[in-house]
Amino acid sequence: MAMNKIKEKNITNLEKKSEKPKEDKPERICRSCGKTFSPPANDYLGLYHDGFCKILCRTIYYTIPLRFLKIRTDKQSLLESSIDKSLFITGKAGTGKSVFMANLAVKRMTTKQGNIEWISYPAFIMKLQGAFQKDRESPFDIAENIARHYGYLFIDDLGAEKLTDYVRQITYFIINEREQRVLPTVITSNFTLQEIAEQIDVRISSRIAGMCEVLKFTGVDQRIKRQT
Ligand SMILES: Nc1ncnc2c1ncn2[C@@H]1O[C@H](COP(=O)(O)OP(=O)(O)OP(=O)(O)O)[C@@H](O)[C@H]1O
Ligand SMILES: [Mg+2]
Ligand SMILES: [Zn+2]
Repeated sequence: MAMNKIKEKNITNLEKKSEKPKEDKPERICRSCGKTFSPPANDYLGLYHDGFCKILCRTIYYTIPLRFLKIRTDKQSLLESSIDKSLFITGKAGTGKSVFMANLAVKRMTTKQGNIEWISYPAFIMKLQGAFQKDRESPFDIAENIARHYGYLFIDDLGAEKLTDYVRQITYFIINEREQRVLPTVITSNFTLQEIAEQIDVRISSRIAGMCEVLKFTGVDQRIKRQT
């Protein structure tokens, strides 16, 4: 009997010890997924400090433009059936292409393993042009790293950049690498494949047609619709 009592006492003590110390830190809303989360016992990765509920949320936040993270595409069944495909998403401005692609990228990051790369194509071209002047990483190295990225590559707004011969060359290089190495690629563009053939290079449109399923987004410009 006495032994039992001692044991019981010990257990009670242990329970008391493992009680969570009272924190004065408040709950926070994750900057990436929007869920509410409690302060962790140990924030050695600085996630709570930075405002993220988990590592993946931090990665998503720094990979995909924030504006697109906040909107849920209305094309959920198309999203489900597109998750493992290479896609060329074409349509007029404001038809929801980038929002759809961002939702797809988040879905991939949360349900599948492997890194993704997201580039805004006009900004990427400007980065290459800047690299010529800075004399650090060479523009070719930057383009090659992107072109050979082993996981999914998301290219937003192909064709929105100024179409110089240099841009045509770089675009051909990236698309050709993706096609030859059979690397998964999702592209959005205001151009149709026909327009890419006519205004950029037929060898680029031909390769995109070979490796991607084409999705054509129609409808009104949702940016204008929201304002009226
Ligand atoms: N499913 C949606 N629900 C609510 N708003 C939406 C939705 N899809 C798009 N929008 C609104 O429309 C805007 C434009 O969407 P998005 O940037 O995806 O268009 P886009 O087709 O990529 O246009 P562009 O060709 O100009 O890049 C968004 O910023 C958002 O405000
Ligand atoms: Mg867009
Ligand atoms: Zn989160």
